[in-house]
Amino acid sequence: MQLTQSSVGRKIIMAVTGIVLVAFVCVHLLGNSSLFFGADAINAYAQKLHSLGPFVWVFRLVMLAAFAIHIFFGIQLTLENKAATPEKNVQVKRLKTGFGAETMVISGLILLAFVIYHLLHFTVRVPGMGVYEMNEATQMVNVYTMVVTAFMSLLKVAIYVIGMVFLFLHVGHGFQSLFQTIGLSNDKSLPVMGLLSKLVAFVLLLGYISIPLLIVFGGIKL
Ligand code: HEM
Repeated sequence: MQLTQSSVGRKIIMAVTGIVLVAFVCVHLLGNSSLFFGADAINAYAQKLHSLGPFVWVFRLVMLAAFAIHIFFGIQLTLENKAATPEKNVQVKRLKTGFGAETMVISGLILLAFVIYHLLHFTVRVPGMGVYEMNEATQMVNVYTMVVTAFMSLLKVAIYVIGMVFLFLHVGHGFQSLFQTIGLSNDKSLPVMGLLSKLVAFVLLLGYISIPLLIVFGGIKL
């Protein structure tokens, strides 16, 4: 397939925004891991984050922009590829293999739905979606209670675990295609990059699902 200059540019933008998003997901998992050290640890972590004041909003805006651009170009490039790709296109077949690759748009859209749900649940804190206990002294929600009570519900555990499976599928392929976009892969390195992508995605999957699963099976208690 002939790649036009503008589609190369958009693929590079997708790769850059993808790196920003994967970096966020890794740092967010590290932050969430403070839950394993008890209520004080995760509440102190949340308080530290919120004490950054305007920087939190700058960070949120950068993340929102990266997310929006990534989704916009992802959908645009997929629609263009669909319109321009004939049935027997050798290059496309070589680059797009496997379940994760074939389902990038679907896994991406499901992840978008998950993130919206997650933000309403833990950031906007829509009344009725969770337990939001205010600490009068710090004027902050008790994040430990919010997370632990959330994952006492099997439905919420299922939503998060399914969301994380789609994160695994999306990152597993996205990370590999990022190497291709920035020209770091050839026939020899492609399988290694593929394996590395799956490994990063797998560590994220295990790390993230361990939180709801440990809670629902009683390993972390209120
Ligand atoms: C078991 C899995 C997860 C847990 C327990 C969790 C926990 C949390 C908590 C407690 C907050 C609120 C922090 C605060 O306001 O103090 C939060 C915010 C957030 N989470 Fe997660 N999270 C999980 C998975 C994810 C995943 C997979 C993504 C992205 C794909 C994600 C994206 C976000 C975003 C964008 C925010 C908003 C950050 C902000 O307030 O600026 N989370 N999460």
